[in-house]
Amino acid sequence: MCLFNKEKIIGQLPPKVSTQIAEIEIFQTIESTNQYLLDRTKLPSGSVCIAEQQTQGRGRQGRTWISPPTGNLYLSILWHFNNKQNLPWPCLSLICGLSIVRVLKQLIFQPIHIKWPNDILVEGKKISGILVESNLSDQYLTAVIGMGVNINLPIEYRRDLPYEITDLNSHLSKTIESNELVAKVLQEVIASLQLFAAQGFQPFRDEWLSYANYLNKPVSLVNGTHTYQGIMTGINEDGALLLEQNGIITPIYSGEFSLRPQR
Ligand code: BTN
Repeated sequence: MCLFNKEKIIGQLPPKVSTQIAEIEIFQTIESTNQYLLDRTKLPSGSVCIAEQQTQGRGRQGRTWISPPTGNLYLSILWHFNNKQNLPWPCLSLICGLSIVRVLKQLIFQPIHIKWPNDILVEGKKISGILVESNLSDQYLTAVIGMGVNINLPIEYRRDLPYEITDLNSHLSKTIESNELVAKVLQEVIASLQLFAAQGFQPFRDEWLSYANYLNKPVSLVNGTHTYQGIMTGINEDGALLLEQNGIITPIYSGEFSLRPQR
């Protein structure tokens, strides 16, 4: 039996959200929900792909996203933006991370943080990650926004990861129905995409900062062979991390950096 059901998802959405969804395709197994939509960028905005398992789930920085069929959420949504609009595109992943935080806040009481740019942490352990991949044409920037949420990730899948992991079921007193979770995620993400298209990052920035991990703390930003050390003083309106070193603040734009606490 499939965990996800299109009618049950749509049935839980208010009309202002369901009318923004072009299609929901559900798979038991797929290589990657992001890849599925990237191969179909002519699909309309609001095309959604959900899977119970990914055989080649992708994470940021070329990493693998562990995607066993144990009840986790692997979801991607395709959205077309007018590419003539001067929007701060790197912020897309930040606002989608914030949308996931808003959903988790409705469900659990434990502290939730965002590690720049978009790792979602509960009690310091990663519960969710976002991968935005995009395609540029004359008219559109087409973004495929992939979200992975660990709901039930048994210990054996966590062992080889270089960071600590948690899952939603470890923090819930009563498990959440999968379609209800998808509906909550779609509701938050679609509202955020619409507001971002209209007003950019500004309406999200303060709320994002309220969840920022390591804010005003000493951090290391590691990029291959380079390590920059300083204080993370915030993020700017383009979503760049602001790093203070000897009184000078430098915006760090590249998502290729890994943010770590200074030891
Ligand atoms: C990260 O490295 O933190 C980003 C993880 C993104 C994983 C999701 S799961 C759904 C979508 N399909 C993929 O192949 N990756 C994203």
